[in-house]
Amino acid sequence: MNVGVVGCGFISGIHVNAWRDVGLTVTAACDLNEKAAIEFTKDWKIPKHYTSLTEMLKNEDLFAISVCVPPRFHADVAIQALEAGCNIVVEKPFTVNTGEAKKLLATLEKSTGKMTIIHSQLYEHSIYSAMKKVKAGEIGQVVGMDVTVLHSPDEIMAGDKNHWCHKLAGGRFGENLPHPIYLLQAFLGKLDIKSVLTDKLGNNDWMPIDELRVILESGKNKFGTIHISFNAPGHDRTVVSASIYGTGGTIHADIYPVSTLFVSKPGRGILHFGNVAQQAKIWGAYIKNIITKRKTPRYYSISHARIIKAFVESLSGNGSPLVTPEMGYENIKVVEEICKIIDEKRVPKKEKPVS
Ligand SMILES: NC(=O)c1ccc[n+]([C@@H]2O[C@H](COP(=O)([O-])OP(=O)(O)OC[C@H]3O[C@@H](n4cnc5c(N)ncnc54)[C@H](O)[C@@H]3O)[C@@H](O)[C@H]2O)c1
Repeated sequence: MNVGVVGCGFISGIHVNAWRDVGLTVTAACDLNEKAAIEFTKDWKIPKHYTSLTEMLKNEDLFAISVCVPPRFHADVAIQALEAGCNIVVEKPFTVNTGEAKKLLATLEKSTGKMTIIHSQLYEHSIYSAMKKVKAGEIGQVVGMDVTVLHSPDEIMAGDKNHWCHKLAGGRFGENLPHPIYLLQAFLGKLDIKSVLTDKLGNNDWMPIDELRVILESGKNKFGTIHISFNAPGHDRTVVSASIYGTGGTIHADIYPVSTLFVSKPGRGILHFGNVAQQAKIWGAYIKNIITKRKTPRYYSISHARIIKAFVESLSGNGSPLVTPEMGYENIKVVEEICKIIDEKRVPKKEKPVS
């Protein structure tokens, strides 16, 4: 069974490795920019390159397509691939708004193809284990969660004033927000927005807002918070962590740059055997990936591999996909609402006329 990749940029190689992991062959890749398509197919030893998706779909017999183009093209590319009968893996953000998401879901319903979405951070080692622990009741009932995302001002997208992300609704946050939102949705459930606070602290003139704090509520008095900063210089340009509070304990998970997981419970030290064993397991998995895949995390993402593996298995009747179309829609619904508020805040308010 053959696979095609649309968009030959930063994230695309990670998709190629994930498809190869499940034994499928990436036979073609397509990019509007021919140079990018040629270089990518050469680097990744993919037999054919295209600059037109229509041509690729016509000439290749493709079982599935990875949609790795900038978000404003996700819906169009995904719809075209579904109409050609392909299964699709769509990078986050699912789409740029709920209108496009509805169009895509309507096409999916009529199509023979299936779809999953890359909610990647949820399937990194630490947070994936955290979810298993929560499901097993290790910290009792979850009552709250905080997600912190710290970017350096020269982070790859934020630092480039011409990057497509700045043109999204919500600017750079429109690209980044899906991650903390799906993390909170996975642990807390449906979210209502309670408060959105923004600020401008840094010197990237093209980012009128570079600090974001959001408070969300799930049910009654179960709060989730998000802090995204683009003012946190560091060696690793992105640091992501999550704290999950339960009635019987707390979990702290670092997601990037490295996975760590600590469960804190009353009357038990942090260097408890369970925590040490958990760390050893995570580090063992890292080292195993580097040795067996001969790839660093930049080229091999365990989360992409898990999502694509579960998707392929679900297509042959084994289990369910990890990320469903409904999850993609719920995610983008909340992201869209927050981005609307961000954009209202970044438009300079007209001074009230003095009477
Ligand atoms: N899951 C993650 O952690 C993660 C990380 C980075 C990016 N992403 C997502 O992946 C997607 C791609 O991001 P990227 O950083 O790889 O972007 P990129 O800009 O590096 O690459 C995108 C490529 O798509 C090409 N392209 C644009 N429109 C096209 C079209 N209509 N048809 C074919 N090719 C087209 C561009 O020429 C470019 O080469 C985005 O949705 C982004 O949010 C996800």
